[in-house]
Amino acid sequence: MQALELEKLPRHLAIIMDGNGRWAQERMLSRILGHKKGVETVRTIVEESSLLGIQYLTLFAFSSENWLRPKSEVRSLMALLKKYIAMETPRMMRNNIRFNVIGNPDELPDDITKALQTAMAKTSGNSGMLLTLALSYGSRQEILRAVANLAVDMVAGRVSKEDLTDDLFSGYLYTGGLPEPDFLIRTSGEMRISNFLLWQLAYTELYFTQVNWPDFDKGHFYDALRNFQARERRYGLTSDQLRKGE
Ligand code: FPP
Repeated sequence: MQALELEKLPRHLAIIMDGNGRWAQERMLSRILGHKKGVETVRTIVEESSLLGIQYLTLFAFSSENWLRPKSEVRSLMALLKKYIAMETPRMMRNNIRFNVIGNPDELPDDITKALQTAMAKTSGNSGMLLTLALSYGSRQEILRAVANLAVDMVAGRVSKEDLTDDLFSGYLYTGGLPEPDFLIRTSGEMRISNFLLWQLAYTELYFTQVNWPDFDKGHFYDALRNFQARERRYGLTSDQLRKGE
């Protein structure tokens, strides 16, 4: 098996954690048991990423559209999330992980918002990996919000049409200040982006695996990272230009 090159890891890794429901259904278990098992995978991947020295890990944990799921599933997911934050904050402190959230906080229950804010405040002085959970997150909503805020600044004369660059616009997104993802993993065989980081994924390498999220283990994770390391990122240039460093 080919070893991992530690100097060639994605700086920012994003993951669409999919297939918890199918994992459970295949075993005649309730969907929520699939999510519970999914939380164990979250622990493994967060810990591995931090040990490997990945600087930014962004996990799609709950989409704007997930609110439309049966109420009991939404309630259970929120309860799991609250438990996860309580259990994991001490571990984040031990691993020097900084915790961050993107998405629409207005849609989250108050107790969850408070728990998230506490975890962010507690870990804000850490200098290791930045772990971002996308919660109540939708990329089109994020872009519209950015456009609205940008329009306000333009009308107020704080930004002119000439100022408008990719970088300036990126700063209006929830992910402002984060580098764009280098690598996106989606589990469970679905080959879609599903309203996740649409602007930010412009040059991201995409990786899809059949494995459901609860089964995605360290071995699968390393396979994905090795696959990333074998790729050549050209950003629209030719291989020749890249070799010559033009
Ligand atoms: C997709 O599986 C997963 C989700 C909607 C949520 C992901 C949530 C977790 C891994 C657990 C909670 C997370 C944290 C960080 C505490 P699915 O239900 O869409 O699966 P399916 O497509 O097979 O139905």
